[in-house]
Amino acid sequence: MDSLSVVILAAGKGKRMYSALPKVLHPIGGQPMLARVIATARQLQPAKIVVVYGHGGEQVREQIQDPDIAWALQAEQLGTGHALKMALPYLPKVGRTLVLYGDVPLTTLATLQQLLAVAEQGMALLVDVLPDASGYGRIVRNEAGEIVAIVEDKDCSAAQKAIREINTGMLVLPNARLDGWLGALKNGNAQGEYYLTDVIGLAVTDGLAVPGVTVAASWEAAGVNNKWQLAELERQLQLNQARALLTAGVTLADPARIDVRGELQHGQDVSIDVGCVFEGQVSLGDNVQIGAYCVLKNVTVAAGSRIAPYSHLEDAVVGEGCRIGPYARLRPGARLAAHVHVGNFVEIKKSNIGIGSKVNHLSYIGDADIGSKVNIGAGSVTCNYDGVNKYRTLIGDGVFVGSGTLMVAPVTLEEGATIGAGSVLTKTAPAGQLTVARAKQLTVPGWQRPQKLK
Ligand code: UD1
Ligand code: CA
Repeated sequence: MDSLSVVILAAGKGKRMYSALPKVLHPIGGQPMLARVIATARQLQPAKIVVVYGHGGEQVREQIQDPDIAWALQAEQLGTGHALKMALPYLPKVGRTLVLYGDVPLTTLATLQQLLAVAEQGMALLVDVLPDASGYGRIVRNEAGEIVAIVEDKDCSAAQKAIREINTGMLVLPNARLDGWLGALKNGNAQGEYYLTDVIGLAVTDGLAVPGVTVAASWEAAGVNNKWQLAELERQLQLNQARALLTAGVTLADPARIDVRGELQHGQDVSIDVGCVFEGQVSLGDNVQIGAYCVLKNVTVAAGSRIAPYSHLEDAVVGEGCRIGPYARLRPGARLAAHVHVGNFVEIKKSNIGIGSKVNHLSYIGDADIGSKVNIGAGSVTCNYDGVNKYRTLIGDGVFVGSGTLMVAPVTLEEGATIGAGSVLTKTAPAGQLTVARAKQLTVPGWQRPQKLK
């Protein structure tokens, strides 16, 4: 088979986004639109991907940072035909080129494969049929039903305006013809632009067939010009992802109330309540339950664990059969072994918690190594920071920490130690003994309350 190149047009300003961020860098599903288009293109295994950039180009190149991509600058936006011409120096003279748009993020691989499959003579056009075609280039067919031209909305006759079949903009072209065709484009049209769409007429003149493929759904070809359209496509993407999860057996309380901004891997019988957000790489084992309104970012949760509502987990690992939350916060580097309990208003950072240990209420555990079967009483804090450096707290297996204990790191609580409530520990608490580090209780005999002055 001849080689495939992909050119992604992304030089548009995106004025109507009213943003300092170039349009194609606006995220959809947590990923810049352009990155999503590139990812889809890459799945076609092309020999070459060229991105035509313009406005805010340096920012785009920096953000995308992809060594396999060739960047073609279109300094002035003179139309889609001119844009493709800027990519010509980067394209081989043979094979085919698929043209995509950087602001059309949801085209499926299957549709593009279908488009390439029909492009036997090197050409094919992706089309759609819309109830309201205004604004789009119209597909003009002859009596035999063959595509013979695309007429831009602003150049349409009254009769052509009524055509509802439109050009999505995505098409396949034979590289051998590109030099000639793009060189022949004229800009004597309503917008004074070099229209890529005019190559259709040139191809027909050259006797090439231009088969059309209709998108499976209109959102596949929908572009983003403003925040409303971005939001609409975001909802569509989320719905697509929710459908894929449900189809794969995940229980979702409401497919319209889950957001996956990355990749969500899952085992069997996973259930997710409403309002949860998953970012980056998240992996949920068998029988994991996620309560309402949880946010998980780059997290692994092993089988049978339950995360109760309103918990926030980031860069954390949760072992099997854990109970987390409600209102728990696991910060980067929190690593919980199996059967750990973390309760409400507990924050854990850069700490290892051993099997079966419990931190159930209102505590801060930072830079700690905690053994197994440890109980941390309510309101206990590892004082890990002296204002300059951070220090670790080491807690052995089976330690019992009474409520309201402050562990001033670096400090060690040896295996089986018991700490009296309200202690401020600054020295090692020896193994197997009770350590109490607080002011002794005092009762003042004969003390009387002050009286109101006359
Ligand atoms: C284009 C098509 C139209 C089609 C519509 C689908 C042409 C002449 N018209 O129209 O038939 O129905 O898309 O949305 O092709 N771009 C550049 N450089 C330029 C101009 C555009 O890189 O000089 C890029 C834009 O960033 C965008 C894409 O090309 O990603 C389409 O440009 P846009 O101006 O939106 O095209 P339309 O006029 O809407
Ligand atoms: Ca235009």
